Amino acid sequence: MNYFKYKDGELHAEDVRIRELAEKYGTPLYVYSAKTLQRHFKAFDSAFEGINHLICYSVKANSNLSILNLLKQEGSGVDIVSGGELFRALRAGIDPKKIVYSGVGKSVAEIQEALFAGILMFNVESEQELERISKVAVEFGFEAQVSLRINPDVDPKTHPYIATGLKKSKFGIPMDQALPIYVKARDLPGVNPVGIDCHIGSQLTTIEPFLESIERLKKLHGQLAEKGIMIKYLDLGGGLGITYDEEEPPHPREFGEALKKALAGMDLTLILEPGRVIAGNAGILVTQVEYIKQGSTKDFVIVDAGMNDLIRPSLYGSFHRIAEVEPKGRPSRKVDVVGPICESGDFLAQDRELPQVQPGELLAVHSAGAYGFVMSSQYNSRPRAAEILVDGATSRVIRKREQYQTLVALEEDALEK
Ligand code: LLP
Repeated sequence: MNYFKYKDGELHAEDVRIRELAEKYGTPLYVYSAKTLQRHFKAFDSAFEGINHLICYSVKANSNLSILNLLKQEGSGVDIVSGGELFRALRAGIDPKKIVYSGVGKSVAEIQEALFAGILMFNVESEQELERISKVAVEFGFEAQVSLRINPDVDPKTHPYIATGLKKSKFGIPMDQALPIYVKARDLPGVNPVGIDCHIGSQLTTIEPFLESIERLKKLHGQLAEKGIMIKYLDLGGGLGITYDEEEPPHPREFGEALKKALAGMDLTLILEPGRVIAGNAGILVTQVEYIKQGSTKDFVIVDAGMNDLIRPSLYGSFHRIAEVEPKGRPSRKVDVVGPICESGDFLAQDRELPQVQPGELLAVHSAGAYGFVMSSQYNSRPRAAEILVDGATSRVIRKREQYQTLVALEEDALEK
């Protein structure tokens, strides 16, 4: 459920008219709903009531400071994958003891930063990384809590670019190599193995792959206990999918029930790293129609948002629902909705039934709150869009629109004057 609804014939974000926001702040424009974010977080968190758990929102989905801050106020921790995300999380006031750090390529500098910040745990993705963390921790007098990220070889049945728990994937440590690396972690100075971690992929629309991973991790948990390695945390990553089109992913409540059942009797703190399910349907991208063009085989609706603003359709062929901000009941026809970028791959939708919109009208590209703005770029020297957070009847800019000056700010000093 989200709070982007039509009232009096116009799309609103909560109690604010989208047209009003577009007039005030310009387009393309990312608009988020605070109440939707809060609602999604609460639904997810309360699904795990009754067991020890920590929700670590995955910063990569939407890393705006105001959004991190809002989730912090709901009690969220975070999952980070870079020094930059650590910096953002600390800036937003996230409790370091609620930060877990994933990712296959942590640099020495990033490990240092995380140690000094006092994060809860590193999700270690290789034996070499474990050795590196041990070395850095010893050098600076820390003891780092670590989980090993296990690759359980489970097929999440999602887009290949976002499946991460298969044997052929670069992520995690293969199950059959895990035990000796845990023993090494127990014996190395500066690290303390306290967790098992996995993340099998993103936009999963069934629970089975999660349950399959749990079964495999439980076996490992038993083997570790036999070796005297006491595990306190089980981190199952993120990955629960959302409805973009007709998908019917499980409700967080169902997801929670199934996981609780699978973990019954285990004395562990469960960590989850949801990203998309919290932020995805809490944001839209508002864009204005610039031109209508009749090609020889296709019609194009040319809008002012391009693949630099929202790359998911171009990169993954993802579906994002596109709707008029002020529907007028006109008949629809099949069109490509394309942006101004000089690439044929620059589209927001292909062969999409859309009412016969006219230049100047506004369209809402839905489900753009996760992996939207964060994946945007300045390609074709297009300043990045502004981001707005609506709460009830109020709206505020949570990231200013970039200017032409922003494009060159870091280059100007190098110009020969
Ligand atoms: N934890 C880890 C270790 C991850 O790698 C990810 C996502 C998450 C949590 C959060 O997953 P979520 O709950 O959002 O599914 N850019 C792609 C998605 C890439 C996801 C990468 N990892 C997209 O636009 O669909």
